[in-house]
Amino acid sequence: MKRHTIQLYPLGKTLRVNHNTPLMDVLHEYGIEFPCGGKGSCGKCKVKVLKGDVKVSELHRQKLELLGLTPEWRLACYSQCKSDITVELDQFNQLILADESSFEFTPKQGYGVAVDLGTTTLVAQLVDLSNASVLAVETRLNPQARFGADVISRIQSCLDGNAREMTRLIRLHVGNMIELLQRKTNVELQQIAIVGNTVMHHIFCGIDVKPLAEYPFHSTQLQRQIFSPEMLEWNFRVNDFITFYPSVGSFVGSDIVAGILATGIDKHAAYTALIDLGTNGEIVIGNKERLVCASTAAGPAFEGTNISVGMRAVTGAVSSFHRDEEKLIATVIGNAKARGLCGSALVDAIALLRKTEQIGLFGEIADGTKQLELVNDISLTQKDIHEFQLAKAAIAAGMEILCSTLAISDNELQAVYIAGGFGTYLNVEHLIQTGALAIPTVKIHKMGNTALIGAKMFLFTENAVIDTLLAKTEHINLESHPAFQDIYVDSMIFP
Ligand code: FES
Repeated sequence: MKRHTIQLYPLGKTLRVNHNTPLMDVLHEYGIEFPCGGKGSCGKCKVKVLKGDVKVSELHRQKLELLGLTPEWRLACYSQCKSDITVELDQFNQLILADESSFEFTPKQGYGVAVDLGTTTLVAQLVDLSNASVLAVETRLNPQARFGADVISRIQSCLDGNAREMTRLIRLHVGNMIELLQRKTNVELQQIAIVGNTVMHHIFCGIDVKPLAEYPFHSTQLQRQIFSPEMLEWNFRVNDFITFYPSVGSFVGSDIVAGILATGIDKHAAYTALIDLGTNGEIVIGNKERLVCASTAAGPAFEGTNISVGMRAVTGAVSSFHRDEEKLIATVIGNAKARGLCGSALVDAIALLRKTEQIGLFGEIADGTKQLELVNDISLTQKDIHEFQLAKAAIAAGMEILCSTLAISDNELQAVYIAGGFGTYLNVEHLIQTGALAIPTVKIHKMGNTALIGAKMFLFTENAVIDTLLAKTEHINLESHPAFQDIYVDSMIFP
């Protein structure tokens, strides 16, 4: 029998299947849901054909038409594999954080694209500049993931000789997303605003990352970078500029500058904080006079990396736990079989196990065993708990040092904004119970993707305004602060 290859994007999985295999049969295994039971009426199982062809029967065509889906889409529940194909799973893309928050703006002519170039995910929104409405969205995983999960491994991979390929790849994918947005809406583009952390900035712009890898970790090329489509080998027109916005420091990028704009923490006399717990964890604290910011090594654990059962917040990830008498009850994203824990569930598990003293004050498993079972087949090891302690101590130490730089105490903070996908499912009370933050729950607000909101705001903001904001934002290197080690070690202990 003839066999074919199916590549699943953004999962990065390749399958070999028999001729005529229904896609529904193979996608079940990867947590894809079929809410209407494969009747072709909900459209939730839709996949985009990126390479090859998936033939459409007359009935399938009618269903696609009824659901208003454009020609590149197929319903997995109506599709069979008859040749080698690459398909993009929409359900995974839905879980990448896009944003539709409103903000203040001065209307302009034309259309712009805002891009949040994250270490893990890419989001691009096409915006009508006359009313700031989002006309189309494209999301995908960062294709550089195969060169490493976090910024440190990406830097290493650049130094190992992959820098050019990583630059080519990210420009190709971002360009491709924008081209799709333009094709969907058929409008002429005026400008493109891209934000990202400093490592993403350097790789996209083709700047050497070596200074970010060596003491004193100081890059002299943090500035705004302007491109034309030709410079990036993009085959579409942009009337004004493509701008990659400037970073504040070696590990605090324009995604955080965008976050400052989105939360308005630079507008008030009172002090507020922004904590972005993406793959690279950053903190900014300040007011309208002065802002201080730092990056912390908090991200990987909260993103599920470095945790034996950790995973991103996608179908099959436990997003939260609550206790019912003796047992921990898990909520799983997409109602699928639990495959692992995302960051919010890790916080819940640690807080709940600490409450029953199954985890001791120093993070030790109290009964001396090597692991604690949470739900079937998913357990936390001693190393996982230790990784969590490192991450929560990094946040606590970052908060304390930034507050002391401003000569304020943390109870002078009027609000703390939590940005990033992690915040979506986070139980703030549990986070406080672990000792990561010593702020009352009422002061903590989840803000969603502030980098993307800010990138859209950049489309309406004069460069001079952003330069003023940068001039009053100071980058603090936590590790070289004399008190850092002591505070960090103390913060590892649970309250
Ligand atoms: S499962 Fe509903 S359309 Fe396929």
